[in-house]
Amino acid sequence: MKVSPAVPLSVTLLLFLFLSTTTYAHNITKILAKHPEFSTFNHYLTVTHLAAEINRRQTITVCAIDNAAMNVLLEKHLPTYTLKNVLSLHVFADYFGAKKLHQITKGSTLTATMFQATGEAPGTSGYINITNMKGGKVGFANEDNDGHFAATFVKSVVEMPYNISVIQISHILTSAAAEAPVAAPSDLNVTTLMAKQGCKSFSDLLKSHPDVAKTFAENVQSGLTVFCPTDGVITAFMPKFKNLTKDGQASLLLYHGIPVYNSMGMLKSNNGLMNTLATEGKKKYDFTVQNDGDDVKLETKVVTATISGTLYDEEPLSVYKVDKVLLPRELFKGTVAEEPAPAPKGAKKKKKSSKGGDDDVDDDGAPEPSQDDDEDPADDSANLNFANHVKSSGLFVTVVISIICVAII
Ligand SMILES: *[C@@H]1O[C@H](CO)[C@@H](O)[C@H](O)[C@H]1NC(C)=O
Ligand SMILES: *[C@@H]1O[C@H](CO)[C@@H](O)[C@H](O)[C@H]1NC(C)=O
Ligand SMILES: *[C@@H]1O[C@H](CO)[C@@H](O)[C@H](O)[C@H]1NC(C)=O
Ligand SMILES: *[C@@H]1O[C@H](CO)[C@@H](O)[C@H](O)[C@H]1NC(C)=O
Ligand SMILES: *[C@@H]1O[C@H](CO)[C@@H](O)[C@H](O)[C@H]1NC(C)=O
Repeated sequence: MKVSPAVPLSVTLLLFLFLSTTTYAHNITKILAKHPEFSTFNHYLTVTHLAAEINRRQTITVCAIDNAAMNVLLEKHLPTYTLKNVLSLHVFADYFGAKKLHQITKGSTLTATMFQATGEAPGTSGYINITNMKGGKVGFANEDNDGHFAATFVKSVVEMPYNISVIQISHILTSAAAEAPVAAPSDLNVTTLMAKQGCKSFSDLLKSHPDVAKTFAENVQSGLTVFCPTDGVITAFMPKFKNLTKDGQASLLLYHGIPVYNSMGMLKSNNGLMNTLATEGKKKYDFTVQNDGDDVKLETKVVTATISGTLYDEEPLSVYKVDKVLLPRELFKGTVAEEPAPAPKGAKKKKKSSKGGDDDVDDDGAPEPSQDDDEDPADDSANLNFANHVKSSGLFVTVVISIICVAII
């Protein structure tokens, strides 16, 4: 009787040991190298640097295409940056194993791809429609399809729930938007990118301060993280913004940029004080990045804003949406209570006064890129939580379990 519980426990122990010693969750290059029929696809994932991005992300699905199907794409002789957009349509920001593909709720779903996250995809063109078709087939097509699904599910290649699923599909996924000529990253235009992706008001403010827009642009090459308050938030803030001096306005705008590239994972793991583009000598203009569960919060001592979405995340540039205007204490300390109130209290007061600070108004009406959201059905998220829990508890859990095992044996 005493022996039987020890068996699953030691299995658990092995699992924990395995989980706590793996540093890189997955390596797509290595996974595909075991399948020579995908060698061309694998090669181009490396050439376009998509492989590194796939490895960095969790909860992801890669739709591999065999060498014959890849030739159809290569015959188009697309430049590398365009090829990257087309291939990024094959990477979903959600986990789809064979089972989930065949059990899609209502038989059809739209899923965000890495193309959506690049900021190059106009509207919803970075979404793929997955549909359960007659005869048990699963079809894949652009969001804007005419009922025609050229690509179908062939087989599951590798499933590592719920980190990465690699599936084979019959044909390439492409679209006019994905094949549109694109600028090299050095030509990335931050203001245009934000305007297209739901941060038009903030982008307009930058444009009205050409020196500020120039500073943002000059920092892209060497690494830049931008936090853009959404359109509704900016609208509500305009009376206060207009009340600032020209220099104050410039500092406030610069305060929304960090001259270093930060992925969401980096923000979650590098909590602490961040300098901004407004920081200069004695003018600190800094704020604190702080995790709160799965949320990332930015605390300025006047206000606490939460990151509500990712507009763009591709080294060297990341742009996140925030639910409040970041108010530096250098400009707004007079507007909060005089007593040395703790930051969260000040933040609450501010929130009340900046009406609409909570309505995250999205004008484009497009669904959000979801690479950082967990949109899995309940059964999946239970497992996801488990994985996350294991990740954070790490060795400690392993040690505890080992002790329990030893005790039982
Ligand atoms: C999923 O990712 C976590 C964290 O990176 C890792 O520890 C774990 O081993 C991965 N799970 C599988 C099944 O590979
Ligand atoms: C992934 O695997 C490839 C081939 O085995 C290797 O060359 C590469 O260095 C690996 N990448 C990482 C990040 O471990
Ligand atoms: C996917 O495409 C099919 C065919 O055009 C359409 O009937 C279906 O409504 C689409 N699904 C979603 C979720 O948009
Ligand atoms: C970005 O695009 C806008 C509008 O097309 C233009 O006015 C601005 O000069 C561009 N900025 C850079 C740095 O190229
Ligand atoms: C504008 O500034 C003045 C003087 O500092 C202040 O009394 C007023 O309340 C401010 N208005 C807004 C909308 O912040």
